Amino acid sequence: MTEKKGKYYITTPIYYPSSNLHIGHTYCTVMADAMARFKRLSGYDVRFLTGTDEHGQKLQAAAEKAGMTPQAYVDNVVAGIKELWKTMEISYDDFIRTTEPRHKERVQRIFMKMYENGDIYQGEYEGMYCTPCESFWTESQLHDGNCPDCGRPVQKAKEDAYFFRLSRYEQKLIDLFENNPEFLQPESRRNEMLSFVRQGLEDLCISRSTFNWGIPVPLNDKHVIYVWLDALSNYITALGYPDETELYETYWPADVHLVGKEIVRFHTVIWPAMLMSMGAPLPKQVLGHGWLLLEGGKMSKSKGNVVDPVKLIERYGIDALKYFLLREYTFGQDGIFTNEVMLNRMNYDLANDLGNLVSRTVSMIEKYCGGTVPESKVPGDHDEELKAVATAAAAKVEAHMDRFSFNLALEEIWVLIRRTNKYIDETSPWVLAKDPANQERLDTVMHNLAESLRIVSILINPFMAATSKEIRKQLGLWFAEVEWQDSFVFDAMGGETVKKGDPIFPRLDIEKELAELEAMIGTGGEDANIPLELKPAIEYDDFAKIDFRVGTILKAEKHPKADKLLVFQVKMGTETRQVISGVAESFKPEEAVGRQVVVVANLKPRMLRGMESKGMLLFADNGERCEFVTTTAPDGETVS
Ligand code: ME8
Ligand code: MG
Repeated sequence: MTEKKGKYYITTPIYYPSSNLHIGHTYCTVMADAMARFKRLSGYDVRFLTGTDEHGQKLQAAAEKAGMTPQAYVDNVVAGIKELWKTMEISYDDFIRTTEPRHKERVQRIFMKMYENGDIYQGEYEGMYCTPCESFWTESQLHDGNCPDCGRPVQKAKEDAYFFRLSRYEQKLIDLFENNPEFLQPESRRNEMLSFVRQGLEDLCISRSTFNWGIPVPLNDKHVIYVWLDALSNYITALGYPDETELYETYWPADVHLVGKEIVRFHTVIWPAMLMSMGAPLPKQVLGHGWLLLEGGKMSKSKGNVVDPVKLIERYGIDALKYFLLREYTFGQDGIFTNEVMLNRMNYDLANDLGNLVSRTVSMIEKYCGGTVPESKVPGDHDEELKAVATAAAAKVEAHMDRFSFNLALEEIWVLIRRTNKYIDETSPWVLAKDPANQERLDTVMHNLAESLRIVSILINPFMAATSKEIRKQLGLWFAEVEWQDSFVFDAMGGETVKKGDPIFPRLDIEKELAELEAMIGTGGEDANIPLELKPAIEYDDFAKIDFRVGTILKAEKHPKADKLLVFQVKMGTETRQVISGVAESFKPEEAVGRQVVVVANLKPRMLRGMESKGMLLFADNGERCEFVTTTAPDGETVS
C-alpha cells in the first residue's frame, strides 16, 4: 500500500433536482470524481461529497406544476440522479439530500449558532411584491416594472424577515482574497469577487415567509431558511457538524469546493462569512469552472437543447464520455460542446491511439511469445527513449492534476501512448519474427510494449477506471492491485498470461453517428414523447371567458419611455385601439404593419409606462424572439 499522505476533502455543488441533470452537471461531477480517484490512488485519505439541493420556491412551484407534493417530486428526480451517477461509476463517499433529517436538524443548529453569536437579527424586508405569485422581487429583477414571472403589476411591500450581518465580514473577506490568493481560482474570478466585496456588502435576508418548502427558522416557524444558507451548509452537515464531530474533525476544512462560475459568489462571500460567524475554519480553496455551451449559446431546459448524458453513455460508454469531457475542455474556461468534436476525440484518441495499442500489443504477444509476457533480454534502439517517456509520465500527470489541468494530464498520457505506437513501427516486430535468431530481441520488444501499456493502465485509472481494468485483464494483470507508484518503474512484468478481448473502443462511423445524433435531437430521442410542462389544467368555462378577435395592425411605433415595448394601433372591424406589447427586441415597428393578428380583446386595460394598452396580442415565443400568431381571416372576426 502507498503510504497515506493526509486527507483530501472534495465537493461538487449540490444540484437542484428540478429536472434531470444534463451534460453540464455531468462535466462538474466527472471532474470531481477524477480528482477524488486520483488522490485516492496517490495515497490520500479522500472524502468526496455530492448531493442535491431540494428546497425553495422554484422546486415547490415545479412540484405544483407536476401535480405532486414537493417531497414526492424531488424523491423521483433524485432517484434518477443517483442512477446516473451509479451508471457513470461516480465514486462519491456520501450523497447528501437537503431534505434528510440529519441535514435539516443541523442547519437549524447552524442558524442558532450564528444567532447566538449576534449575527442574525429580525428586520423588515422591503421589495416589490407580486400577490398572485407570492413573490418578492428587487427593482432590477422586474420586467418593464412588472413581475418577471407573470407580467402583472407589483406593489411595494414589506415583510418580517431575518437578516445575516454579512456587512460585518466585509473587511475580513477582503483580507481573505488579498492574503490568500489560493482561496479562489482562477485568478480572474478572484479579481471579480474582490471588486464585488470592495463595493460594499449589505446584510443578507436569510428567511422567507411567502412559501413553506424549506427548513423552518428555529425561532419562528412561519419562516423558512433561505435556500442558499440551507444549501451551503451541506458541506459540513454531511460531516456531522455541529453535533457529531468525528468526520468533521477528520475532513474539515474542505480542500476544494468545485463549483460552476455562476455560483462562485455564494461560495466565496456568503459561505466564508457564515463559517466566520460560526467560528469554523474556511475551505482551503474554491475552484470556479467554466460552462459547457452549445453552438447556439447556453444549454437550457426551457430551450429543450440540453445534451442528455444518458443517451451518450448508451451509445459510446461511460469512459468515452468521461475521457472526452476531461480531455477536451480547459479548466476554468467555457467550452463549446459539439457532437463532431466529441466523435473525433473518441475515434482518434480512443479507438486509434489507445484501442490499437492494446489490441496490437496483446495480439503480438499471443502470436510471437505464446501469450506469455517475456522478460527483457536484448536491449536495442529506441528502448531507452521509450522507457524515459514511460517513467517520466506519472510525475507530469501529478503536476497537471495539482492545477486541475485534466486536459494536460491526459495529453501527457497520450504522449506515452503515441510514443509506444511509434515504437512498434520503429522496431517492426513482424520483421524480427521472420528470423528465429531474433527471438530474444523480439521478446524484449514485446516486454517493453507490455510495460508501457501497464504504465498507461495505471495512469488512466483515475479517469477511466473500467478501461484501466479491461487493459489489465488483457495484459494478465487482473490479480494485481493498481498502485500509483508502480507507474514510475519499468521492468516489473514477466510471466503474465495475456488474453485478447474485444476492441476496447470500436471505431465509429462519424458521418453516420452525426446523422443519428442529429435525428435524436430532432425527435427528442427514440423513446422520447416527453409530456410538456404545462400550467395547471383549466375548465372550458375559464377558456370561454376570453374574447379573441382578429385584428389588423395599422400602425406600430416604439414606446417613448420603454425600450422593450412597441405601441400598436389595431383595427378590429369597427373599432381601432391601442395595444402595447413587450416585443421591440423581435421586430422593427415597420415589419408589423399590415399583419393580421389575434387579439385578446376583453382584457382589462392597463397603463404601461404612462400609455394605455387595451387588450393583448398573441405571440409565439421561443424564449429569445417572438413571432405574431397570424391568420388570413378578416379583422373583426371572433376566434374560438
Ligand atoms: O446552482 N456547464 O444547482 P444547479 C458546466 N443548487 N457546468 C454546469 C452547466 C453547464 N452548462 N450547467 C450546470 C445550483 N453546471 C445550487 C448549488 S451548492 C451549495 C448549491 C454545473 O442544479 C455547474 O457546476 O443549478 C454549476 O455550478 C452547477 O451545475 C449548478 O447546478
Ligand atoms: Mg443553476
